[in-house]
Amino acid sequence: MSDVNWPFIPADMPEITRTEGVFLFDAAGRPILDAAGGAIVANVGHGRERVVARVAEATRDTTYVVPPWITPSRRALVEVLERDWLPESLPHMHLTSGGSESVETAVKLAAQFHAARGEPDRSIIIARSPSYHGTTLTTAALSGHAARKRGLESMLGSHPVVPTPYPLRCPLGRESDGMGAWYAQALEDAISELGSGRVAAFLAEPITGSSGGAIVPPDDYWPRIREVCDRHGVLLIMDEVMTGFGRTGRPFGYQHWDVTPDILVSGKGLAGGYAPLGGVFASAAIGEAIRHARMNVMFHTFGAHPAACAAAAEVLTILTEENLVERARVMGERLKAGLITRLGQHPHVAEVRGRGLLLAVEIVRDRASLEPYEESDNIAGRIVGEGLKEGVFFYGGGTGEFRDIVCMGPPFIIDDGHVETMIETLATAIERVCP
Ligand SMILES: Cc1ncc(COP(=O)(O)O)c(C=O)c1O
Repeated sequence: MSDVNWPFIPADMPEITRTEGVFLFDAAGRPILDAAGGAIVANVGHGRERVVARVAEATRDTTYVVPPWITPSRRALVEVLERDWLPESLPHMHLTSGGSESVETAVKLAAQFHAARGEPDRSIIIARSPSYHGTTLTTAALSGHAARKRGLESMLGSHPVVPTPYPLRCPLGRESDGMGAWYAQALEDAISELGSGRVAAFLAEPITGSSGGAIVPPDDYWPRIREVCDRHGVLLIMDEVMTGFGRTGRPFGYQHWDVTPDILVSGKGLAGGYAPLGGVFASAAIGEAIRHARMNVMFHTFGAHPAACAAAAEVLTILTEENLVERARVMGERLKAGLITRLGQHPHVAEVRGRGLLLAVEIVRDRASLEPYEESDNIAGRIVGEGLKEGVFFYGGGTGEFRDIVCMGPPFIIDDGHVETMIETLATAIERVCP
């Protein structure tokens, strides 16, 4: 355990001196199964020599070059993205250094697009709760994540919010028909109330990440949302920072439904943890409007860093060559089925949910009424702590009223043995914390 003054508020954090495959190793050499892929990042696993080699090569050959210029690694990444990953409908790309910067860029692009077309009053972004979009002031303000805003409330601008579809707690009932239509109507009502000429975009995660714990919306939700946005001239921004690049068993989360965003935002898995990188991908209409209006899409100094582009090009190539998106789907189904068998009827487990290898278990005091534990009980934090004692790193999630959520997002290369270890360790941790 660490004795250094780290992080900002010092806490007893593990010291990791090596990572390899699906494991982290602490200073004593003890292996920790990385069931969270870090912060749901390490999609191809740790320590891949071929990625390390490409990063070294790019650093040696083109250490730093201003982001708008072209380098071999930038060219390679664009080629891979266009060939294997992005839909033709999203040809414009802007690369940043992470998720928050990317969401912020997406929001700015939406405002610029409308201003460029002569509708500068379309400046409102509608977001959802629960959600998480980042830690800059704008992206925090847009996040339906009370816990991460504490003490900042007075600085954060207010944005209209509609509820994230949450089948477990849907007021219509968990299995009700028309659930997606009901949640989509909330967006339609919000737009009508604000006036459609004032709304720039709707910002949402296709499958909610750790804030809600891998919440999958009902199947009629996204097609209806697309209709609502189209009817009102509102752009649809999909935040795929957590779900993008195979995490949910499809290249992108939105592809589980018949819907395409106007702006797609990525981060985390894009470079798989080998370097900081985020990407924003926009439609031709958006790119062309901003270009014709001669507006600036300013870069961040470290955006599209050559080493990060090299890492991403190689990570994305590995995903394709090793068929890892399909593996995420298959292993995710096995992990979810195993969790349901082992924990599905546990008196304190409200639900096991998610898609692909973005999965979560929601813990409650009472399974029938869904009454949560007290916040001060810190249930999810203690479960994560117990997991770590047993050598497995789970990711704590949840916020506000729905706070006790344990997320899983391991590298796509996990095998059946790892799946078994995750299930048994989580069961043990839950038994200890919620006897
Ligand atoms: C859906 C989503 N959007 C945005 C972010 C912010 O990304 P970053 O932490 O790289 O700034 C995150 C991070 O967890 C996320 O999960």
